[in-house]
Amino acid sequence: MPRSTSLWQQTTALLTTSPLQKHSRADVCVIGAGIAGLTTAYQLAREGRSVVVIDAVAVGGGQTSLTTAHLSNEIDDSYEEILRLHGPDGARLACDSHRAAIDRIEAICGLENLACAFERVDGYLFLGKGAKEKDLDRELEAARAAGAQVDKLQAAPVQGFSSGVCLRFRNQAQFHPMKYLQGMAKAFQRLGGQIYTGTKAISVESGQPAVVRTADHIAIEAGAAVIATNSPFNDLVTIHTKQAPYHTYAIGFRAAPDAIGHALYWDTEDPYHYIRLQRTTNRELGGDNDEAVDILIVGGEDHKAGQAKDADRRFERLAAWTRERFPAARDEEFRWSGQVMETVDGLGFIGRNPLDAGNVYIATGDSGMGMTHGTIAGILITDLIMGRSNPWTDLYDPGRVRSGAAVEWVKENLNVALQYASWLTPGEVSSIDQIAPNTGAVVVEHGRKVAVFKDERGEVHKRSAVCPHLGCIVAWNPAASSWDCPCHGSRFDKFGAVFNGPSPGDLERVS
Ligand code: FES
Repeated sequence: MPRSTSLWQQTTALLTTSPLQKHSRADVCVIGAGIAGLTTAYQLAREGRSVVVIDAVAVGGGQTSLTTAHLSNEIDDSYEEILRLHGPDGARLACDSHRAAIDRIEAICGLENLACAFERVDGYLFLGKGAKEKDLDRELEAARAAGAQVDKLQAAPVQGFSSGVCLRFRNQAQFHPMKYLQGMAKAFQRLGGQIYTGTKAISVESGQPAVVRTADHIAIEAGAAVIATNSPFNDLVTIHTKQAPYHTYAIGFRAAPDAIGHALYWDTEDPYHYIRLQRTTNRELGGDNDEAVDILIVGGEDHKAGQAKDADRRFERLAAWTRERFPAARDEEFRWSGQVMETVDGLGFIGRNPLDAGNVYIATGDSGMGMTHGTIAGILITDLIMGRSNPWTDLYDPGRVRSGAAVEWVKENLNVALQYASWLTPGEVSSIDQIAPNTGAVVVEHGRKVAVFKDERGEVHKRSAVCPHLGCIVAWNPAASSWDCPCHGSRFDKFGAVFNGPSPGDLERVS
């Protein structure tokens, strides 16, 4: 049986436990110890700023631990689309910024001597079902116009995979995200930075100073606050109408070392498949020797969060797709799923929060490129806080509106509006007896929707199924054993405690 964790979660999470003072002060308070938050904190600490990082969970314990960690400047939504939405200058800046992010990660690995398996590889975009060669030609033209180092080949020159005609993006990269984050966290602490995990922020007030308040009644005063959570919790509406949560699935297959060429691979399907390899050892996988093993990581089967109930079938389709194309794939070692925030125009929202005074910054909207967008956040927000100009400011401005994204904006917000119809539908099961142990379902009790989780002993745990953010009805996610809101990305553990997203609190208790 594959483990229901990501490959990276084998690496022990970094927890820091020393308590914060009731009233703390720093130049900058960063909320979120994932890649965006920690890169920003590390960069600022290198510039001599005093920085406090807080996170409700461990370092990298949010979506960073669930990434597949592709480091690429081939934009997830395609250069053709980025060119249409952001124009030629915008596409060039997008290409430059993601390239610079990969270079910055490589530089930090060198500077801090991080053993995180950073590796330069090429990336190959190949045709998915129903796609035509002319689709690749259009992308080739757009990517070249944006400045990407790209060429067209009749087949990827790699072992163990017959790609057919494809585009090759040079000089991409990959790494072990949790080892990278842990190394960067330690370097940040050496520079005088402070990290407090298990510390949940509940509000941020802008102004001089900005004040971050935590669930433990601690107030942190800072010259600037950075909210680097997957979906910002400080903004009730604005940013959430411009991005939507999607779930994606990944499987890690064991493979003999080098049986498949180390590279990044993507196809042109929608949703697309994404593939790469990670070198590890038998010991790291729980074995008793240090023999090298490659893990073939394959992702795809995305859907809107909280709007699909067939995780098992999605994993099976992903496995079948892989075995057809990668005969060297052996046993499945890992199965996991993660959440991606897709923006309406394909690029992250990074910069000053539009509704706050100038000293509150956000980084969100990973758009399936969380590692590079997170690193761009580290570079860009550091420049903004240090008072330097940065050529990417307008491109990633959270307040931006691109007219070409209007159709996507309407589509996503219509989808959200439709979710409110769930108030009127029957429960997923008519009685709690129909819920199997270790699973959950929404039932209707006395006219109210109730999220019911039944544990392995058959004990029943009930919470209101109404999301405290803006009132959508949550849905059970069998792949992650969580309650997920289909509207703006809030997620709750099986007992109803919020661990992601804009929800200001847990699912309400019901008697
Ligand atoms: Fe907005 Fe749930 S996340 S209503």
